[in-house]
Amino acid sequence: MSEEYGDAYPVEVQWRRPRRVTAADLRQRVVLLPGDGIGPEIVGAARRLLESLGDFEFSEHVVGGASIDEHGTALTEEVLEGCRRADAVLLGAVGGPKWDTTDPDAPRPEQGLLGLRKGMGLYANLRPVRPSPALTDASPLRPEIIAGTDLLVVRELTGGIYFGESGRDGDRAHDDCEYTVDEIERIARVGFEAAQRRGGDPARVTSVDKANVLETSRLWRETVARVATDYDGVELDHMLVDNAAMQLVANPSRFDVIVTENMFGDILSDESAMLTGSLGMLPSASLGADGAPGLFEPVHGSAPDIAGQGIANPLATFLSAAMMLRHGLGMDTEARAIEAAVDSALERGLRTPDLAAEGDEAIGTEEMTVAVIDSLE
Ligand code: NAD
Ligand code: IPM
Ligand code: MN
Repeated sequence: MSEEYGDAYPVEVQWRRPRRVTAADLRQRVVLLPGDGIGPEIVGAARRLLESLGDFEFSEHVVGGASIDEHGTALTEEVLEGCRRADAVLLGAVGGPKWDTTDPDAPRPEQGLLGLRKGMGLYANLRPVRPSPALTDASPLRPEIIAGTDLLVVRELTGGIYFGESGRDGDRAHDDCEYTVDEIERIARVGFEAAQRRGGDPARVTSVDKANVLETSRLWRETVARVATDYDGVELDHMLVDNAAMQLVANPSRFDVIVTENMFGDILSDESAMLTGSLGMLPSASLGADGAPGLFEPVHGSAPDIAGQGIANPLATFLSAAMMLRHGLGMDTEARAIEAAVDSALERGLRTPDLAAEGDEAIGTEEMTVAVIDSLE
């Protein structure tokens, strides 16, 4: 898992050595899960981008609300099996007001995503935050604050309060948060190895917890500190989550790798997205055991408020496709090509409405997609 990989991309380095494609290989099998809301718009755009880069065997399936409508459940066994057999999975987003309910017995779109994460063993979620210099003005933070920000959120993805025992009994409800040493140790190692490969000076892991209140956080802190002794040259600091939320907007460039549990990682990564100017810019990779397929998806949701209008920002999905090529399919050159094409479109001033300043001209999903495809070298 920790093997060095050629001349790794300096910002968003490869986590493990994926299978390399050779001419003799079958075409890479990519499962596309568009999902709900803007999902089909942005995944459709990413498919065109990928088609202009290589020869993939795509198969498309429903998940989330779309699957509830068709099958009464947010994730069918067949779709999960199809994802397990794929080389990689690219997902748009799930959810929307149509399926929002507080009935504990009704199916919910988000169960589809959680079922995929658990069912594919995707315990490590990498969310790199690298504000593009061209977008400095799009961030609500002052340019001098975001200058030099280049961080990676490593979020634990299959444990904690998301997957603990939960239930409702009359006027009471509970969601248990549980972690084991093994779960903490494996995600901590992902964080330390990522810090080593990113080569920061100094390489630093910030472990985020709530050890002043939560027992799971005290076990987390103890375990991460022990694992750290295996990684010479990586500095470790511990930070309470409320302070981390504040530091992310006050002094984001102090961070290198943030390792944290499932729920804290969810919240801190949306916050980090605003350093890049928009939630529409932040990609992610969810990875499990060596050799198992990963799932790649933008950090944002299904954006029901803008769905169907043709104005969704497809760039987080394009950058997720780049992560898929790098981490999932061993196609680092093509991954870089996407990242460079995205940068080039932004440098030329092209902006979807979420990125445009007041009064600036904005383009839609289609124009942005064509611009990025045209910028591929
Ligand atoms: P959201 O991320 O969908 O939207 C938050 C805001 O950001 C909205 O104003 C939206 O228009 C904007 N936005 C998000 N992505 C954008 C893009 N690509 N381009 C332009 N603007 C964009 O979060 P929400 O509104 O809290 O959630 C909506 C639904 O999405 C809920 O059902 C939620 O459960 C689901 N959700 C799904 C995922 C996922 O599938 N990975 C992630 C988060 C939320
Ligand atoms: C995310 C999303 C999901 C999460 C939801 C949709 C289940 O917010 O991927 O960040 O909470 O993990
Ligand atoms: Mn989230």
